[in-house]
Amino acid sequence: MLKPKPLFMLFFLVLVVLAILKYLRTRKFLPMATPTDSTTCLDSFDPNRLYKSVFHMSMVQFMVPKTLSHWVENKSGFEIGAPSASTWGNLGLYDAAAKVDATNFAAQTLWESGIKEGGPFLWKNRTLGKHFIRDAVDLHGIPDESYDFVCGTDILEHVANPFKALLEWLRIMKPNGLLIVIVPYQNVTFDHKRSVAKIEHLMDDYRKKVTEKDLTHLDEILRLHDLGRDAAAGGFDAFKARSEKNFEIRGLHQHVYDQRLLYYIYRCLNIEVKSQYIWDYHQLIIGQKR
Ligand SMILES: *[C@@H]1O[C@H](CO)[C@@H](O)[C@H](O)[C@H]1NC(C)=O
Ligand SMILES: *[C@@H]1O[C@H](CO)[C@@H](O)[C@H](O)[C@H]1NC(C)=O
Ligand SMILES: *[C@@H]1O[C@H](CO)[C@@H](O)[C@H](O)[C@H]1NC(C)=O
Repeated sequence: MLKPKPLFMLFFLVLVVLAILKYLRTRKFLPMATPTDSTTCLDSFDPNRLYKSVFHMSMVQFMVPKTLSHWVENKSGFEIGAPSASTWGNLGLYDAAAKVDATNFAAQTLWESGIKEGGPFLWKNRTLGKHFIRDAVDLHGIPDESYDFVCGTDILEHVANPFKALLEWLRIMKPNGLLIVIVPYQNVTFDHKRSVAKIEHLMDDYRKKVTEKDLTHLDEILRLHDLGRDAAAGGFDAFKARSEKNFEIRGLHQHVYDQRLLYYIYRCLNIEVKSQYIWDYHQLIIGQKR
């Protein structure tokens, strides 16, 4: 027969075991702590971590990708600054995707006209999806994690606050979604005299909440833009006048990119780089959101 003291001890032990079980159960239902590798380099910039994975030019293929259709087949996507017949059109992206919604910053831009909010986004007479009028840095009303991929041809270089834009694009992408970006290959364009931006500078733009009205780079652009390679700009005075009204027109290449910078921007945002290409005047980078 148990004496009063051991009985008390047993009772106490049972209580402790119950308490531990209860603690373990509640823990199971607590949200997982954010793993450190899902925080971006914007939250805590650690150059050792960012540059741990080394970029090398041999990672870039100097050729036209045969097709992009396998990346997007039957998937739903969102295009920033549509349409892009010579890239997404020719590379089979529009034909392969199940749906592509699109946005432009205004109904009328240097490149497109007649865009209607809520109107159809047409490709070869097929309605690919819905058209929005939204700035690349503010996709308000578009739900989180709603697309399998986001793509943009020759958009990022026009954005004054690229990290702000990229975080918006990532926001509307599903987990494991693809970010498919083309920017001009500066070595062969009118930007060839300009320097490639530093990632630290782009991070600074983000921290300082630089707006799309920013004209910090205007002097540099007016000095180094090679008008000889930009007949459409129509001479220095016209180009200057247009550039001073950049918020309305958005013609400026706010920053210049190369594949190395694109690679580290993706790394910073925890996007796993899958493929990089250079051909004609294009640089393409494809990565997967983690
Ligand atoms: C895409 O859809 C078509 C038609 O339903 C189907 O035949 C094809 O296997 C699908 N492809 C993928 C990669 O799911
Ligand atoms: C689109 O439709 C118009 C009118 O129906 C037709 O003339 C044109 O050839 C079509 N374009 C394509 C690319 O199918
Ligand atoms: C582009 O030009 C820069 C500066 O001249 C050079 O360092 C770089 O290697 C070139 N890039 C490619 C991919 O040829």
